[in-house]
Amino acid sequence: LHVAVLKGGLSAEREVSLSSGTECAGALREAGYRVTEIDARADLGARLMEIAPDVVFNGLHGRWGEDGCVQGLLEWMRLPYTHSGVLASALAMDKVRTKEIYREAGLPVVESLLVDRDDARAAHAMEPPYVVKPYNEGSSVGVYLVPAGANGPPALSDDMPQTVMVEAFVPGRELTTCVMDGRALGVTDILTDGWYDYDAKYVEGGSRHVVPAEIPAEVYAACEDYALRAHDALGCRGLSRTDFRWDEEKGLDGLILLETNTQPGMTPTSLAPEQAAAAGLSFPEMCRRLVEDASC
Ligand code: DAL
Ligand code: MG
Repeated sequence: LHVAVLKGGLSAEREVSLSSGTECAGALREAGYRVTEIDARADLGARLMEIAPDVVFNGLHGRWGEDGCVQGLLEWMRLPYTHSGVLASALAMDKVRTKEIYREAGLPVVESLLVDRDDARAAHAMEPPYVVKPYNEGSSVGVYLVPAGANGPPALSDDMPQTVMVEAFVPGRELTTCVMDGRALGVTDILTDGWYDYDAKYVEGGSRHVVPAEIPAEVYAACEDYALRAHDALGCRGLSRTDFRWDEEKGLDGLILLETNTQPGMTPTSLAPEQAAAAGLSFPEMCRRLVEDASC
């Protein structure tokens, strides 16, 4: 089987995707596939026509690669592809729509607002502590934490989209659960010195991961249950990763869902391959299952 791995792309997460794609291509070769790596740019359609792969492995992150756009192109070309389809990708990439779906599914979320970037610069959009972020990016690109007691609103950069999401800050721990083939793969507790930002995510040693997380059994079970329900409610396919914050002082009531990633990072410091390994699923086997599950 000839597999084309898409990587790079056009989003703010291009570098992350170059790493994810390279790792997945290596794992797929190990699993015995013939692999072509494609840096996905504007000529992607022409490149795919030329290569005519049996399956496209989506190694992209962020806008255009994780939000339904590239999935639409692949549907149009009738090329089977891995991970989620058009609708689930579009819904999960939009943190506001995601929350609406979580709420409908009875999953716990925290208060948030969509506001104009200039309004968010002029005055506090809600009582600090809160977080300002793009509603449609990943890897913590453009995330601002406004701490309790902050005097003024954040100095948002001009790179921020005109509409931004403001979300109440939940203190506590950062937990994450992957779902693959209808099964939760466990819970990872992410320990950082400060904020789980871009560098903490991708610099070797930037964060420490405890997997399986050493948390109360009821919280562990809730993460797995919520991640499965989020995956299903959004209509995800193959692999997803749902991120939580947990305020341990509040017990189970302190657990909230932040988002579901339909294209979880697959870099050497990423959470999904590590959690899968702890669940007994090797990286080549994980990538092989995604290829088997591909459709269009
Ligand atoms: N957006 C990055 C790739 C992640 O969620 O892993
Ligand atoms: Mg994300």
